[in-house]
Amino acid sequence: MDAGLTQINGGLERKGSLTSSYLEEPLNKSGVVSCIFSLKEEVGALVEALKLFEEKGINLTHIESRPSRKNNEEYEFFISVDQASSKVLDEIVDGLRTQIRGQVHELSRNKQKDTVPWFPNDIQDLDRFANQILSYGSELDADHPGFTDTVYRARRKEFADIAYNYRHGQPIPRVEYTAEEKATWGTVFRELKTLYPTHACREHNRVFPLLEKYCGYREDNIPQLEDISHYLQSCTGFRLRPVAGLLSSRDFLAGLAFRVFHSTQYIRHSSKPMYTPEPDICHELLGHVPLFADPNFAQFSQEIGLASLGAPDEFIEKLATVYWFTVEFGLCKQGNEVKAYGAGLLSSFGELQYCLTNEPKLQPFEPEKTCQQKYPITEFQPVYFVAESFEDAKEKVRRFATTIPRPFSVRYNAYTQRIEMLDNAQQLKNLADSINGEISILCNALRKM
Ligand SMILES: [Fe+2]
Repeated sequence: MDAGLTQINGGLERKGSLTSSYLEEPLNKSGVVSCIFSLKEEVGALVEALKLFEEKGINLTHIESRPSRKNNEEYEFFISVDQASSKVLDEIVDGLRTQIRGQVHELSRNKQKDTVPWFPNDIQDLDRFANQILSYGSELDADHPGFTDTVYRARRKEFADIAYNYRHGQPIPRVEYTAEEKATWGTVFRELKTLYPTHACREHNRVFPLLEKYCGYREDNIPQLEDISHYLQSCTGFRLRPVAGLLSSRDFLAGLAFRVFHSTQYIRHSSKPMYTPEPDICHELLGHVPLFADPNFAQFSQEIGLASLGAPDEFIEKLATVYWFTVEFGLCKQGNEVKAYGAGLLSSFGELQYCLTNEPKLQPFEPEKTCQQKYPITEFQPVYFVAESFEDAKEKVRRFATTIPRPFSVRYNAYTQRIEMLDNAQQLKNLADSINGEISILCNALRKM
């Protein structure tokens, strides 16, 4: 039973992989209040405690249990109630202390409940917000090229349904693209490919032939998200996940913390192959995917995601702006030249040419300044920010993240695919042990060279 945890939430049972993270689940968006109490390991102890909730007419929205790490004769329970019920929680706390005599040893409300927004702790938690989207499938604006095309709108709904039903760990369903869709892709692919050698950064140009070799990147073929996701995992651990519509900045950035990129699967309308008012598969596959195969860029992207977890709203906006001017519209120095690495540039024939002319204003990438820059979303950018390198940009985002007011640091554990909050001695010891192990590997390798 050590470190085992049974999650009695929606009938889900999950054991053996979790340690302390459930203790730290903060207030979520719907206003949940959580607390922890421990009881002696006795038959019926939990039933007695739960009666107190029943008597007050309180429905628990969540309950988890595990053996106490402080006393091996005790069990700890983490419970959540909704905000409306929280008013009587104090009475229940008193009841736990007095009526369940001597059995309650600890009870603490989550201290950060009013200040830290909910964020996913586990890669599986991405399922919880995947469908909290701003628009769905066939809902197109009146000025969208496909607005009056009922066939296109029905097709968009098919794609949205795939994403809507997707859950973490499942293979991404393959799509049989129509001849018309392939023709649209072919036009975009052919035109952009002529610009890459001169306009794209070297990382993009290095990966692109590999995508042609391993992932079916061809003028006459729209590659499948599932194949690309596998390929990216083998390069950097990044993976794709289909998305049914537009996510909030907070949710989208949170995905990056887990090296998960939410990707569209549909293609733009065939009437305007060189234009799309929203991200489509051309944008994702030609713009984003090649860079996610680069280790430094992958790390940089994840840093933005990690910085966003639990950040206040105003910082989410700043990070979303940093994301906009880097992952979407970033330029970088390469030798004496400036090249494009942002996906919005690498997937737009017109803007890819324009961004390297003398017309736009170029500024050095400094997150503190970049995050304040206003930007248009329907025309070419008047200002671009130039990174010295991905390594340098990553360090700058890391430093910027330290200015975010949140009462903990976070780290992604790639083995457990969970976020670790570095706010207690045990977590810091785990991190120190892990660094120690890595340093000993490094020293061994150095001795053998
Ligand atoms: Fe994008």
